[in-house]
Amino acid sequence: MSRLAIIGGTGLTQLAELTIKKYETITTPYGEPSADLIIGELNGAEVIFLARHGNPHSIPPHKINYCANIWALKALGVENIIAVAAVGGITQDMAPAHIAIPDQIIDYSYGRKHTFFEDENDPVRHIDFSYPYSQTLRSRLIHVAKTVGISISPIATYGCTQGPRLETAAEITRMERDGCDIVGMTGMPEAALARELGLNYATVGVVANWAAGKTEGEITMVEIEQNLHKGMANTAELLKAFAFSC
Ligand code: HPA
Repeated sequence: MSRLAIIGGTGLTQLAELTIKKYETITTPYGEPSADLIIGELNGAEVIFLARHGNPHSIPPHKINYCANIWALKALGVENIIAVAAVGGITQDMAPAHIAIPDQIIDYSYGRKHTFFEDENDPVRHIDFSYPYSQTLRSRLIHVAKTVGISISPIATYGCTQGPRLETAAEITRMERDGCDIVGMTGMPEAALARELGLNYATVGVVANWAAGKTEGEITMVEIEQNLHKGMANTAELLKAFAFSC
């Protein structure tokens, strides 16, 4: 199996199950990645780990240098990326601590550097993005989840908002009408940049909270952290089993 990277999001700044072999500091034409890349071993397989929000967790979603992160992974020879992302749950099955493997994205973010293809000396390029996630990686994740008995939703549409604030109830109602099942702040442009560099990319969405307006009361960071703690235990099991299958 080709080189695998895991991008850890909120709730997964470190992967405790990873045996760290070395750290790589990579400089890219786009600046610094969020953190040093960790080369390690997960359940017998080599894995490169990158903390999307930095280590410690300090970079908000709209300030992440997505280009540097994806470029650095490519520079280390990565071909497959599993991106772990905390999300809010919009539709019925997406309860806190649940895991979804999305198959579609709607991008509501703005003002982020979202392409490698904008050098005026290069020919104009348009990647195909009809199916934004790697079907091969998704199928493997879904298969592995079934094998180890972790309940997941194998289909979901991920809506990417700008953050860092959470959404209004009306925004979530609109997103639900649009077909979104989960909402997060980091899925784009990460997925598109991976596609531009020819990397296979799939997301494990871990539900941290019901999205705005879906329950009574405020959404608090305490609630998000508690749910993520539960969801990340299953996510770590899934990642371990996935790495073993590589
Ligand atoms: N909205 C956007 N991003 C999120 C949420 C949410 O409710 N929860 C975790 N990440």
